[in-house]
Amino acid sequence: MCGIVGYVGKRSAEEVIIDGLSKLEYRGYDSAGIAINQNKETIAFAKKKGRLSILEDYLKEMPILGHVGIGHTRWATHGEPSDINSHPHLNEKETIAVVHNGIIENYMEIKEMLIAEGYTFKSETDTEVIVHLVDKHYNGNLIEAVYAAIKQLRGAYALGVVAVDHPDELVAVRKESPLIVGLGKEEFFVASDVPAILKYTREVYFLENGEVVHIKDNALKVYDENKNLVNKEVKTIDWDIEAASKGGYDYFMLKEIYDQPQAIKETLIRRLDADRMIHLDDIKMTKEQLEDITKVYIVACGTAYNAGLVGKYAIEKLAKIPVEVDIASEFRYSNPFIDEKTLLIVVSQSGETADTLAAMKLAKSKGARVLAITNVVGSSVAREATDVFYTWAGPEIAVASTKAYTAQIVAFYMIALDFALKRETITQDKYSETVDKGKEMIENIVKDIKDTKSAFYLGRGLDYMTAQEAALKLKEISYIYTEAFAAGELKHGTIALIEKGIPVFCVVTQDDLAEKMISNIKEVKARGAFVIAIAKDTNKEISKVADDTIYIPAADDLLMPILSVVPTQLVAYYASLARGNDVDKPRNLAKSVTVE
Ligand code: AGP
Repeated sequence: MCGIVGYVGKRSAEEVIIDGLSKLEYRGYDSAGIAINQNKETIAFAKKKGRLSILEDYLKEMPILGHVGIGHTRWATHGEPSDINSHPHLNEKETIAVVHNGIIENYMEIKEMLIAEGYTFKSETDTEVIVHLVDKHYNGNLIEAVYAAIKQLRGAYALGVVAVDHPDELVAVRKESPLIVGLGKEEFFVASDVPAILKYTREVYFLENGEVVHIKDNALKVYDENKNLVNKEVKTIDWDIEAASKGGYDYFMLKEIYDQPQAIKETLIRRLDADRMIHLDDIKMTKEQLEDITKVYIVACGTAYNAGLVGKYAIEKLAKIPVEVDIASEFRYSNPFIDEKTLLIVVSQSGETADTLAAMKLAKSKGARVLAITNVVGSSVAREATDVFYTWAGPEIAVASTKAYTAQIVAFYMIALDFALKRETITQDKYSETVDKGKEMIENIVKDIKDTKSAFYLGRGLDYMTAQEAALKLKEISYIYTEAFAAGELKHGTIALIEKGIPVFCVVTQDDLAEKMISNIKEVKARGAFVIAIAKDTNKEISKVADDTIYIPAADDLLMPILSVVPTQLVAYYASLARGNDVDKPRNLAKSVTVE
């Protein structure tokens, strides 16, 4: 996620801002920038692609003096990582600067309007429309211009704004994207998160949606969206910096499990418009090109492979296209049938996994079209692919993948729906109903799931795919040997492993397979297993046969993997904690496997 830091006070704004941005590096970014009001003709600024240290080295040579400024670390969503796409963005006269965290959904229509009015754009970002809107409405009153500008915006935005004609002023806005205020002694801070300001103060305001901060004449005021003064309650932070960067959670993994509703919303929100049509602007494949496809492979590693299993099910069920799923390290040596009528879908959170990249290169060399689902803008996978579907889940820090997995599943559902609509294998209203359920279900994602240990996972159909991801999650961070069984396979050997007291998780969300799963539950219980079921809250039969049942909100069967995986992620998390492991950095593992 992007990070914002703003400062007004007696210290060096450059020093405070760079220090603050360094405390936000955990949020993940690919470029950084700063703008400082020196009370001259224009705003002084510097912005660089890459690590914060690159900007710091530049500033060592070209320091920017001044006491009022804004800074930003960018996690690219619109436009590749580059100096010009980095924030802050300035108006043409370079008298106003803006930093932004979030997404402006209607930026294209605003950009077209502004270009028609004679404005010129330098970057590919959505953010640049904001500074030109402030410029358009500016007539000497900075906060009024900001209010007028944000009235035209739709989407999520945390903003910091400075203007050369207002040497002691800073305006900040919060809508959806987080923003806090730090209250120092005759100095004020705004930041995306607490760690950025803890070095200077522990007294903060947590801003609500629509609130606007105005720092002027060494005073800070907060207004609501109707310009009424708001009486904010000062909160005192008792976290240390390390804890604060995890948002108060003990580990990044738990933070990222709870981030899933927001991550999935980010994956969805920009691709659904008011009439519930999916707009996959990033996938240029036409109806005719899709109809030409005779073979689809989904290729990935680890958790991304497990998401591919769900993707296969969704594309076959909705678009009626046969799909093969393979582990990248196997695919590349298995002499797959590939030609120009093949579509290869690669899935990679990091976009840097060596085996996945090698599989892509093999497929491209044989003429295949490659669609990449990845979480990192500008990653190797993204650059190599014909089409890219970014999950926009925000950086995933913990080695054990959680929010990337659910975002990848949502990506597959949207791709399957898009393909199905193009191939007319589903009608418009089925499409809309599925999208509605998707949106509705996102609102009800399960938040807190009971903590328990596990050793086997059972499932059928989509639940078996979830069981495979659940088993990987548990084994990689708790080091408990965990295996996923296709429940129908028990009698073919695996039931020999069931003995008294062994915990067996049964995932039961597919209506047409529930009866068979109830029989499987009875089968393993008869051999002494302790059964914990994960089931739709509409199926009360399950709690009558299982020892413990985690009920989750019911949704369309096809969408249940997004919900049913959450309790299994928490199971892994608590099991790892219970065994005293480093949840975020499990032994022997790396977040991105860039070697074969
Ligand atoms: C998942 O919890 C693991 N950390 C690992 O299996 C991971 O999913 C795999 O290495 C693929 O990584 P990628 O998505 O970045 O390509």
